[in-house]
Amino acid sequence: MLSQKLQDALNAQINAEFWSAYLYLSMSVDASAKGLKGVANWFAVQFREEQDHAQILINYLLSRGGLVTLAPIGAVKTTWESPLAAFEDTLAHERKVTAMFNDLCRLAAEENDFATSNTLVWFVNEQVEEEEAAQEMIDAMKAVDGNKFGTYMLDKELATRAYKMPAPLAGKAE
Ligand code: FEO
Repeated sequence: MLSQKLQDALNAQINAEFWSAYLYLSMSVDASAKGLKGVANWFAVQFREEQDHAQILINYLLSRGGLVTLAPIGAVKTTWESPLAAFEDTLAHERKVTAMFNDLCRLAAEENDFATSNTLVWFVNEQVEEEEAAQEMIDAMKAVDGNKFGTYMLDKELATRAYKMPAPLAGKAE
């Protein structure tokens, strides 16, 4: 049985994942409106991945007989001065999410809830990738800064990013 403390913390994380999804959808819409189809695609994929993160936690709570409570999703910023600014916000946000998962891991350990600790391992690893991906995008944006052709080519490359269902959900779908 999940402790009330852990159930509340997991529900808060579900809300945080949906907020992340909302943030990246907003970045995608903003990029679309500015004609940056590739950047818009990159964030649209991110939007789907964040919903997946929430779904993995929802599935886990349900599998433990926990109560899922979907709280309202807070408002997000709607415009960024450049793709670089959006990716810098992305990295800053992902660092906060990493800290949230570290707190969740600490709580699960305190509660001696090994099943939750085990489930959180996937997210801890995922956060390493999330931060790395955001940093790579910042580096790429800086590399083409002020170069219209470079920006055009980079945007074309980002249009090829494809959504892939994460392993915990792909397993559930079988
Ligand atoms: Fe759900 Fe971007 O971490």
